[in-house]
Amino acid sequence: MGHIQITPSILNADFADLGAEVARIPSADWVHVDVMDNHFVPNLTFGPTMLEALARSTDVPLDAHLMIEDADRNALAYVEAGAGSVTFHVEAARAPVRLAREIRSHGARASMALRPATPIEPYEDLLAELDMVLIMTVEPGFGGQKFLDLCLPKIRRARELMDKHGVETWLQVDGGVSLDTIARCAEAGADVFVAGSAVYSADDPDRMVAELRAAAEA
Ligand code: DX5
Ligand code: ZN
Repeated sequence: MGHIQITPSILNADFADLGAEVARIPSADWVHVDVMDNHFVPNLTFGPTMLEALARSTDVPLDAHLMIEDADRNALAYVEAGAGSVTFHVEAARAPVRLAREIRSHGARASMALRPATPIEPYEDLLAELDMVLIMTVEPGFGGQKFLDLCLPKIRRARELMDKHGVETWLQVDGGVSLDTIARCAEAGADVFVAGSAVYSADDPDRMVAELRAAAEA
């Protein structure tokens, strides 16, 4: 298992002042940028132009989570815009192996996300092609949803498969991660934690990053 990393999501931050919102979390390992196209999920956020502006405004690397259809055609634009990690949904990718290789060959970390109902087992042999697997712990689309405990066994199974294959792949969780739920995810084997509303509803978001990190390490 890798070391614990906290990646605040700006989905629930103030969209009118995103540069300042990112500046409030200097101790974050990554900034998680939720890209939504109103087709793969019923919500619409931003595209590569916004991500490029954000990348210019901060030294914290950007972790792009693409909740978009036709990931094969659209993902590379986010690498070119400056994302250090690009996550596509396997449900929206026709050729996940080719896509992961393209993302890596353009210099970013390649990551694959699974919705709550998507099993990990069919992708066991792809793990070595991936720098990270994202297990959604809510149905993607909105911040502030309740953590789905039914996803915990999948986190555990993913960790077991990673150990079995001896890969360095990181295991990220996203959705409803808070001081109440993060320890359960860490115990199941996750090492990279997205937290949106938990961080941005806190009076001091950077302190919440530290508190989440401590709770995951405990
Ligand atoms: C949901 C997004 C998440 C979201 C998490 O579809 O992928 O990244 O911002 O928000 P919280 O932590 O509030 O569940
Ligand atoms: Zn996300």
